Amino acid sequence: MKKVTTAITLRETVHQWRAEGLRIAFVPTMGNLHAGHIKLVSEVRKKADRLIVSIFVNPTQFGVGEDFESYPRTEAEDEEKLMAVAVDLLFSPTVDEMYPENSKTVVSVGELSTLHCGATRVGHFDGVATIVTKLFNMVQPDIAAFGEKDFQQLVLIRTLVQDLNIPVEIFAVATEREPDGLAMSSRNGYLSASERLIAPKLYQALCKARETVLHENQDLRVVELQQLNYLEALGFKVDYFSICSSDSLQPATGNDNALVILVAAKLGKPRLIDNVRFCR
Ligand code: PAF
Repeated sequence: MKKVTTAITLRETVHQWRAEGLRIAFVPTMGNLHAGHIKLVSEVRKKADRLIVSIFVNPTQFGVGEDFESYPRTEAEDEEKLMAVAVDLLFSPTVDEMYPENSKTVVSVGELSTLHCGATRVGHFDGVATIVTKLFNMVQPDIAAFGEKDFQQLVLIRTLVQDLNIPVEIFAVATEREPDGLAMSSRNGYLSASERLIAPKLYQALCKARETVLHENQDLRVVELQQLNYLEALGFKVDYFSICSSDSLQPATGNDNALVILVAAKLGKPRLIDNVRFCR
């Protein structure tokens, strides 16, 4: 596995691969790789001739008081994991490389950036949209993989690519879960032993809400409130529990058939997010 830290060296390799007619896949990450990331990498590996992974803890997507400084950085372990799944190139730039002092442009995807997670994590999705656009311009991949766990991020990136005519196919990969249902996340490591036992209830609440929507004729807002109260009683501080249209991410109405239930809740230190997507 080749390791590069500057956009200019990355470009040289990418140009050479392109000249050889090779198809390039890309997985952007912030490192601290777990089985969910490895699934993304292995799935998209099958769809291209060369695979590039980036590791960059992007400061612009962290709000004031969030965990940018303490975000787990585990480069040596990450590199071993990437070599084991035949990654061709690791791009791990510095903050100065990605954001030179004179850079001014911010990419913003309208209302999608201010809904749900965007309402509490102000500026988060502008940070994500900007870094993903920059990485796409640097890597120029044919296909890029994103996890469905960050469903709002996935919808935002699909929209961004369409609106800005970026010629990249977005490949979504299903959420990887622990045996008890907890969605894999780098932030699960912040849970205490007792919180770790409660954490899977988040997914259970999503599944219960999905069953209610599918099999009982209840008002969607009532279903949301029931599960929100259930989670709060367990000790979660729920940010939102929202049954939405999976296309617009707006609150679902009786006419919407393609649905996603989105949840974000703090449990002790970490803020956990998860979702279930289904049709009725
Ligand atoms: O999902 C993530 O890890 C990040 O938001 C991403 C897409 C790598 C951008 O920094």
